[in-house]
Amino acid sequence: MPKTIVGVIFGGRSVEHEVSIVTAQQIMENIDKHKYEAVPIYIAKSGEWYTGAALFNMQEYKNISKLLAKSDKVFLQPAGDGNHLLYKTQRQGLFSRPKSQRLDVIFPAMHGTFGEDGCLQGLLEMVGLPYVGAAVLGSAVGMDKIMMKAVLKDGGLPVVDYSWLNHHQWEDNPQPIIERIERHLHYPLIIKPANLGSSIGISQARDQDGLKFAIDVASHYDRRIIVEQGLTDFMEINCSVMGNQHDLQASLCEQPLSWQKFLSYEEKYLSKAGKQGMAGSSRKLPAPISDELTKQVQELAKTTFALLDCRGIARIDFLLDKGNTPYVNEINTMPGSVSFYLWEPLGIDFGQLIDRLIGLALDAHKQRAKYIYSYDTNILNLQGKGQTQA
Ligand SMILES: Nc1ncnc2c1ncn2[C@@H]1O[C@H](COP(=O)(O)OP(=O)(O)O)[C@@H](O)[C@H]1O
Ligand SMILES: [Mg+2]
Repeated sequence: MPKTIVGVIFGGRSVEHEVSIVTAQQIMENIDKHKYEAVPIYIAKSGEWYTGAALFNMQEYKNISKLLAKSDKVFLQPAGDGNHLLYKTQRQGLFSRPKSQRLDVIFPAMHGTFGEDGCLQGLLEMVGLPYVGAAVLGSAVGMDKIMMKAVLKDGGLPVVDYSWLNHHQWEDNPQPIIERIERHLHYPLIIKPANLGSSIGISQARDQDGLKFAIDVASHYDRRIIVEQGLTDFMEINCSVMGNQHDLQASLCEQPLSWQKFLSYEEKYLSKAGKQGMAGSSRKLPAPISDELTKQVQELAKTTFALLDCRGIARIDFLLDKGNTPYVNEINTMPGSVSFYLWEPLGIDFGQLIDRLIGLALDAHKQRAKYIYSYDTNILNLQGKGQTQA
């Protein structure tokens, strides 16, 4: 059996660039090497794409310019025959043919902007490559905290009360915005940029001055800002869901302990020795909640996954208030969601999880190929034969 070639795309023009490198290393280390061949595809902060053996080595990332000098610049080439090629720019002579690399499926490991928000997914759709995780719509809606909450609310799922604003309106005239927020919500409030993750740009406000400051902070990161009712006495519960809309399976529920207070970006990713990344944060697994509440959270997680048109895997994060009412806080689509530790107790180790996700990606690709996107008939040929009508 020839190996399935898996392009692992990571890095990218995002504040979560470094986190993405760690995720990609974990995927490439844990992938079943008998079945798959991983091809690293690193997007530098400049936006240029690279591949090469040195990209497998975590130590090399300490000196990026040296690493890039050892690697080959590449780009995606759409190919009609189904073999999607990654052409290496020739270092050889001017007229020598570019090298190519077949890719069978992509494992996106890019967090945040461009990777998790549907942009990369759109590119992969256009070249026709199967890829792991949610497609364009699910990724885009899941990434935007305003759109996500609106869809969830419309679908009858429990979300905290919220309001949102546009940075330009805020700059022009903040007073009506403050009045609207204070009419609908009460302090403390949580202010978040709509489109980031990893707690970046998020703050809590206890009064009007705090609110103004928090909006200014969030405005550095995004044009769109969400202001949420802040819960004071709450527990966080996360649950992962896997599948392609049918046969959805929910993982165990965890309580991520140190997130009780905001965990800063550094704390979340940099405090634990490199490789462990988020998996190293302390948690209670399974979460110390009743079986009944666990079931309720798992069902809500599956409904959220389906409602947001997700695919592959996603982790749904909940806030549980004092009365044990669960609110859906956010969905983390790929790769923010590869919480392999939630699946391990169910007998699915990281390697098997990667295997399942690639299987789901290939299935989803086959399913999509069944839909009609174009007709073989060239209607322009029929013109003048009395068969076309404007
Ligand atoms: N409405 C809220 N009330 C209280 N705390 C919140 C609220 N929303 C978020 N938080 C806290 O902030 C953290 C980060 O918020 P979250 O929406 O998960 O953003 P991110 O996408 O950056 O992870 C959460 O893990 C939680 O601790
Ligand atoms: Mg979160």
